[in-house]
Amino acid sequence: MIYLDSAATSLHKPPQVAQAVADAILHLGNAGRGAHEATLSAGRVIYEAREKLAELFGVNDPTRVCMMFNTTDALNTAIGGLIRPGDHVVTTEAEHNSVLRPLYRAEQCGAQLTIVPMDRTTGRVEERDIIAAIRPDTRAVVCAHASNVTGNVMDIETIGLYCRAHGILFVVDAAQSAGAFDIDMQRMGISALCMPGHKGLLGPQGTGVLCVADGVRIAPLRVGGSGVHSFSHEHPSDYPTALEAGTLNTPGIAGLSAALDFVMKTGPSAIHMREIALARAFYDAIRRLDGVMVYGDWTTDNRAAIVTLGLSGWDAGEVSDVLMQDYGICTRAGAHCAPLVHRAFGTEHGGLVRFSFSYFNTEDEVRAAVDAVTELTQEDS
Ligand code: ALA
Repeated sequence: MIYLDSAATSLHKPPQVAQAVADAILHLGNAGRGAHEATLSAGRVIYEAREKLAELFGVNDPTRVCMMFNTTDALNTAIGGLIRPGDHVVTTEAEHNSVLRPLYRAEQCGAQLTIVPMDRTTGRVEERDIIAAIRPDTRAVVCAHASNVTGNVMDIETIGLYCRAHGILFVVDAAQSAGAFDIDMQRMGISALCMPGHKGLLGPQGTGVLCVADGVRIAPLRVGGSGVHSFSHEHPSDYPTALEAGTLNTPGIAGLSAALDFVMKTGPSAIHMREIALARAFYDAIRRLDGVMVYGDWTTDNRAAIVTLGLSGWDAGEVSDVLMQDYGICTRAGAHCAPLVHRAFGTEHGGLVRFSFSYFNTEDEVRAAVDAVTELTQEDS
């Protein structure tokens, strides 16, 4: 099987990840609940993961690294806990439903949304258009660092520095960039950084992270068990407990911590270079084939390793099925939870097929995918 769906989740992980999960299941207790060795060990493992994440993402205090269950969970927490009725929020057409749906819900509760359009051909959203959409009553800008459909990357530093200078919150969805791009919360003016543990960070599913900048206070989405102040009616306000009610995914976090060792040793920039080389090799080989239409901005390598295409005469789901059944290639077809992107491209009915590459894919796998797409262009659907 050739796995080209890393934008959905990483399948190939460093072997120490599974080992760390198994060790955690066998040995770790519930962090912060009690004072015996198993609970203390769990607390240490989780704190080490926070320290690594803080170092990787430019967070000066590891207690501002909150453990979530996925990016959607982190975005719901950040958006739901920051946006109030009457606030104005700027976002873009390039967003995933994990951004859009919490924002639509905020809109139903009285917030106002401006959705900045993307280019109908390249899918690019211009940073200057985001800044131009900011009004005196804008409370936040919320956007993805990299699109999960086009792979286009946003210059988050330009947006973040503008937001910081004007007292506006900046919430970043790093679902497709964390682990493969340099992200520094302090340098880039990010107020809340939301990411998965299981994609570019190569950890297990069921892990996500929300890093909160100093001075930013997010009202919790969940309250409840915290292991401390049991007689108080209020959930503790100290970070990270403020945003972490209930038992954490300790085995997942242990796996994530092991994965972070690999990511930090290899380096996000080396990971990106390898991934983009594979994606570009695939793109260069298929982009001129008859009937192939590739979406996204390919004028730069500063983009995620995602190649999304349509094949004339074929439904995207059919292409993905044939790729799996006849060639053993895993891709993701459909709308990719990004309805506005597909509406802008006019692909909301047929969908598109997405090939997404990881550090662990090989040149032989790229060649096999090129051969498969080439054969499909020569067949009738
Ligand atoms: N958001 C993930 C994707 O783009 C699941 O596939």
